[in-house]
Order: sequence, then structure tokens, then C-alpha cells
Amino acid sequence: MPPLDFYISQLTPIPAQPKGPALEGKVVIITGANSGIGLAMAHQVAAYRPATLILAVRTLKTGNDALESILKEYPGTNAQVWHLDMADFANVREFSARVERELGVVDIAFLNAGCVTWWKAS
Ligand SMILES: NC(=O)c1ccc[n+]([C@@H]2O[C@H](COP(=O)([O-])OP(=O)(O)OC[C@H]3O[C@@H](n4cnc5c(N)ncnc54)[C@H](OP(=O)(O)O)[C@@H]3O)[C@@H](O)[C@H]2O)c1
Repeated sequence: MPPLDFYISQLTPIPAQPKGPALEGKVVIITGANSGIGLAMAHQVAAYRPATLILAVRTLKTGNDALESILKEYPGTNAQVWHLDMADFANVREFSARVERELGVVDIAFLNAGCVTWWKAS
């Protein structure tokens, strides 16, 4: 991004968020939905009432905590916790097969799981 565009973008108002059930009927997957940006995203998506919300997580304990917090804020959300470890290829294949088998169609996939490593570079 050219430097001037960056400064202009900082002064541009953020577009208004949609209101109501903007994701009605949609099947949504969020990887890394148990913490950080993924968890915040999961709450936001739940607010838009998707048909199905899959919280794809490596750590089931915090995944279940995330599900609980979502159901507390948005009761009746059809959300499920599925195990996914992006560093385990066999598990990724298993996850994909489950998606095909149980969901068939995926409307939106937020592939957020991962880590920032640049600050660790020496
Ligand atoms: N925060 C920022 O300023 C920033 C800036 C640029 C890009 N990003 C990108 O945005 C994404 C989320 O950032 P964040 O700040 O929310 O990070 P975070 O709080 O550290 O969350 C990372 C998420 O990814 C999951 N994860 C890590 N390795 C995984 C693996 N092998 N398989 C499945 N899940 C895995 C973690 O699960 P566990 O709980 O099991 O560890 C956690 O849910 C990352 O991809 C990051 O690179 C963030």
C-alpha cells in the first residue's frame, strides 16, 4: 500500500456493521475460534444468526469455553466445536472429510488459526 493511502485509510470511517440476521441460512467455519481474533469473530458471526457455526479449534477445552460464552450471549445459536490441528495433516484431512460428510456446503470459512512469528525473528 502506498504510504499516502495508508494515512488516508486511517482517517476513513469504518463502514457500519450490518444489523440483524445478515448470515441467516449460511454455514460458517472459523478456525482458531477459541481465542484472540477468532473468538471475537465467532461472537460477531453468532450475532448475525448463521444456520451453522463451526468453531474449529486445536484446544478443545478453550473451544468449549468459547462455545459456552457464545451461547450465553446468543442463546439458540447452532454452534459446534470441532477439533482441528493445522499442524497435523492427518487431522486436517479428517476435518475436511467431516466437513464434506456433515456440512456438504460451506458458505464462509475464516481461516484465522495460526500464529504471528515475526517478532520472534532474531
Ligand atoms: N493480532 C494481530 O495483531 C495480528 C496481526 C496480523 C495477523 N494476525 C493473524 O491473525 C490470526 C489470529 O491472531 P490472534 O492475535 O488472534 O492470535 P492468537 O490469540 O494467538 O490465536 C491464535 C489461534 O490460532 C490457533 N492455532 C495456532 N496454531 C494452530 C494449529 N496448529 N492448529 C489449529 N489452531 C491453531 C490457536 O489455538 P490454541 O489456543 O490451541 O493455541 C488460537 O486459537 C493469526 O493467524 C495471526 O497470524 C494477527
